[in-house]
Amino acid sequence: MATKLSGIRLARRLDEVGFSDIVQIRNKVMAMRAEGLQVHALHGGEPYFETPEDIKFAAVKALVENQTHYAPSSGLPELRKALVEKLASKNRIQVTTDEVIATVGGSQGLYAAFQSVLDPGDDALVFSPYWTPIGDLVTGAQARPLLVPTATARRNGIRKTLEQFSTPKTRAIYYNTPQNPSGLVFTRKEAEEVAAFAIERDLVVIADEAYEDLVYDGEHVSIASLPGMLERTITCFTFSKTYAMTGWRAGYAVAQEPFMTALRKIVLYSTNGVTTPVQHAMIYALKTPEVQIAAYREEYRKRRDLLVSALNEVGLECDPPAGAFYAFPNVEKINKNSRTAAQILLDKAHIATIPGSVFGAQGEGHLRFGYAIGIPEIEDCAEALRRFLA
Ligand SMILES: Cc1ncc(COP(=O)(O)O)c(C=O)c1O
Repeated sequence: MATKLSGIRLARRLDEVGFSDIVQIRNKVMAMRAEGLQVHALHGGEPYFETPEDIKFAAVKALVENQTHYAPSSGLPELRKALVEKLASKNRIQVTTDEVIATVGGSQGLYAAFQSVLDPGDDALVFSPYWTPIGDLVTGAQARPLLVPTATARRNGIRKTLEQFSTPKTRAIYYNTPQNPSGLVFTRKEAEEVAAFAIERDLVVIADEAYEDLVYDGEHVSIASLPGMLERTITCFTFSKTYAMTGWRAGYAVAQEPFMTALRKIVLYSTNGVTTPVQHAMIYALKTPEVQIAAYREEYRKRRDLLVSALNEVGLECDPPAGAFYAFPNVEKINKNSRTAAQILLDKAHIATIPGSVFGAQGEGHLRFGYAIGIPEIEDCAEALRRFLA
């Protein structure tokens, strides 16, 4: 009997979902290092320091005390209580413990948010350049990302520009501040404009505040704290950046009904929650005093200033980014095509960066330099830049 193979194919919803270019660059860097070459690694997005000892001990203690059983899928009550307190005091977001959910990193929160809001055929407005996975999260929901050039929006007016790019099928706006890859921090007035537009058009805002603690100039405004926004916003947070916990996969999301029920279903059927010892570490991490977080921020600011002055010195124009830990200079001096520019910089100066076009067409002509690395490494990179370009 002939074998019928037509059933062996992927579900169509994955057709438009890409794989990360960043992983390919990481592999190339590993291969160069294996050959014994010194590579200046500015392609990454991980804190320069290790997870603080006492946070690690909280997880170890939980393990030793047999906190190894199923926890409620949405998170331990003690964790959700601590999150509610943090959200009220730091983000001015007033919610109950039923309106927060622990997620496996910010990534699971974002995945669940897009899945909860978008139907096939819907559109979502995305300020661009944008963090690459967002395009895939939107297409993975069989929806279409509508890229809104952030620079144009800031110049011509946020509301006017959103109006221009919006369609009758638009259901959501992805709103990331501080931004990856540009380091941009939206002002309160800009947040208010996005909010006014969302209310006027009855849209949902998916807010990504992964870098909320890394604002050097200006203030961090959680859009869900603005009047009329809590009921239409799903806000996603992570422990990855603030507490150097990238590998722990710890995050949380905040939303009201009907969204919270949807988030709960997605978390339940994908991971059934965050691992129990990690939740204990999250509870402990939330006790970190604000002065400690400010001290980390100050360390990043030093790195930012060092890198940005080196970039400008060699003619790679770059305004100091107001937040996050990336610089996003114009590199047309090296090559107009950012993939070619990244390749040249890697081959000739052994500096690993990410091509701006990976973050949307609006990132073309730029490279992303991640400065969450040691100060000596930034100084070495600055020296390599000078040798190559000065
Ligand atoms: C803008 C942005 N959002 C969300 C995340 C999610 O991080 P994680 O899944 O580690 O919490 C990242 C990580 O790089 C990011 O840059």
